[in-house]
Amino acid sequence: MKKILKDFSRNQKEVVPILHRVQTEYGYIPPESLPEIAEHLKISESEIYGILTFYKAFSLVPRGKNIVTVCMGTACHVRGGPQILDEMERDLEIKSGRTTADGNFTLESVNCLGCCAIGPVVVVNGKYYSHISVQKVGKLLKEYKST
Ligand code: FES
Repeated sequence: MKKILKDFSRNQKEVVPILHRVQTEYGYIPPESLPEIAEHLKISESEIYGILTFYKAFSLVPRGKNIVTVCMGTACHVRGGPQILDEMERDLEIKSGRTTADGNFTLESVNCLGCCAIGPVVVVNGKYYSHISVQKVGKLLKEYKST
């Protein structure tokens, strides 16, 4: 943490960039890092918690190596989003919001990714997959099972 914080000034505006950096380094925001960040920026830990709650991109628990996000917004929902999420849960043997025991996958859902026309949409590690169907789920996940 000290090495990370050295790269940032003590300006409170640095809080989000610092959190991004910590998450990139550790894969999540270790709760024990919060007092050090708070001390560095001279802000309270509760202010940092507020930011962590506001930005869904931050996680206080370890996340998988591969982040699978299934869109459950209205347009994707009516085209089979729930069935795709069910199939993902079945294939990965975890519920949405959880990480596989081997740490390879975290499965999440989201309400609209802003590209409804190409739905149903699944995003893996930032890469968008359009027109996904239940039949395509196994092949899609297989791409990442060996990574
Ligand atoms: S509802 Fe899925 S991208 Fe908008």
